[in-house]
Amino acid sequence: MAAVIFLSLFISTVWGLAPSGPWDQFNFAPASRVVTPQSVFQVVGSVDGAQELVSGQDGQATLSGDGSYVVLDFGKEASTVGGRVSLTVNQASSDSALSLSFTESSQFINPKLSDDSCFSTPTLDGDGVQSLPSPLAEGLFTQTVGEQRGGFRFMTIVSNSDSPVTISNVSLGITFMPQLDDLRAYTGYFSAQDPDFHDPDFLTKIWYAGAYTVQTNTLDPHQARQQPCPQPQGWANNATGGPVEGTILVDGAKRDRNVWPGDMGISTFTEVVTTADLESSKNSLLVMYSTQDPATGALQYSGPP
Ligand SMILES: *[C@@H]1O[C@H](CO)[C@@H](O)[C@H](O)[C@H]1NC(C)=O
Ligand SMILES: *[C@@H]1O[C@H](CO)[C@@H](O)[C@H](O)[C@H]1NC(C)=O
Repeated sequence: MAAVIFLSLFISTVWGLAPSGPWDQFNFAPASRVVTPQSVFQVVGSVDGAQELVSGQDGQATLSGDGSYVVLDFGKEASTVGGRVSLTVNQASSDSALSLSFTESSQFINPKLSDDSCFSTPTLDGDGVQSLPSPLAEGLFTQTVGEQRGGFRFMTIVSNSDSPVTISNVSLGITFMPQLDDLRAYTGYFSAQDPDFHDPDFLTKIWYAGAYTVQTNTLDPHQARQQPCPQPQGWANNATGGPVEGTILVDGAKRDRNVWPGDMGISTFTEVVTTADLESSKNSLLVMYSTQDPATGALQYSGPP
C-alpha cells in the first residue's frame, strides 16, 4: 500500500503567529534568549558540585587540580546554541587559571581544543581554547562579542592550575536573530506525517531542524567571522559582514559567518515561511551588490570579510 503523506504548509498572510499544534514539540528554538546548561556530560579529575552548574540549580562547583574539567551540555535534543557565555567566579587565588573549549559534537570534546570554527584544518587545532584573563578575577565573566561561539552544544570548563577555583551561574546569552525576543514565535508551521515510515514525524523534524538552523544563521552584521583567523590559534566573531545595519542571513552559524548567496536559494524561503523575516535576505542581497565590480558587473562569490 502506498504511503499516505499528509502535508500541510501554512503561511499567514498577515504574518500573524502560526496556530499552535503538535508540530510545536519539534520547534528547536529555545524559549528564552538566555539559556543554561541542560546537564553535566562528563567530569574528569576533581570537580566538586558539577551538578550545581546545570539549569535549575544555583549552587557552586569547585575545580581542583591542574587538568580537572567538567563538560556541560547546552543541547536540547541535538540542537546547538550560539552566543556569549557568562559565568561567575566565586573564589579564585592569584594563580588559579580557567579555560573554555567548545564543540558541536561530543566526538570532539577536548580540554585543549575546540572544534574548528575559524578555518578547517585536518588536525582540528585551529581554534584551541579560550583562556580566561590571568590573574583570574572573582566576579562575573562574560565573553566579548569577538569571543562568542556561533554554534556549540558542549562547553568544557578546565582548571589549568593546581589552585582550586569555585564557579557558578553558567549561562549563554543568545546573539543570533537579535530582532526576535521570542525565538519560538514562528509565523508558519509545517506538519507532514507518514504513517508507514518508522518515524511518522520524520519530515516534520527535518523541517524544524532546518528552520532553527536558519535562525542561527541570522546575525548582527558586526558579528561575522574575522579573516584571517587569530594566530597561532583562536577565533574572532566581531568582523563586519557588509555595509548594512539590522541583520544578515549568512551561510553558517559556527564557521562561515558571512553572506553566501548560493545558500539563500534555500535559506531565504525557509526563513520567510518560518519567521516571515525578509529583512535579513534583503540585507544580504545588498551586501552582495556592494561587491559588484563596476567595470565588469561581476559579483563576488561571497560577502565580506
Ligand atoms: C549571573 O549571570 C547573569 C548573566 O546571565 C548576570 O546578569 C548576573 O549578574 C550573574 N549573577 C551573579 C551573582 O554574578
Ligand atoms: C575582535 O575579537 C578579537 C577576539 O576576541 C579581539 O582580539 C579583538 O580585539 C576584537 N576587535 C575589536 C575591534 O573589538
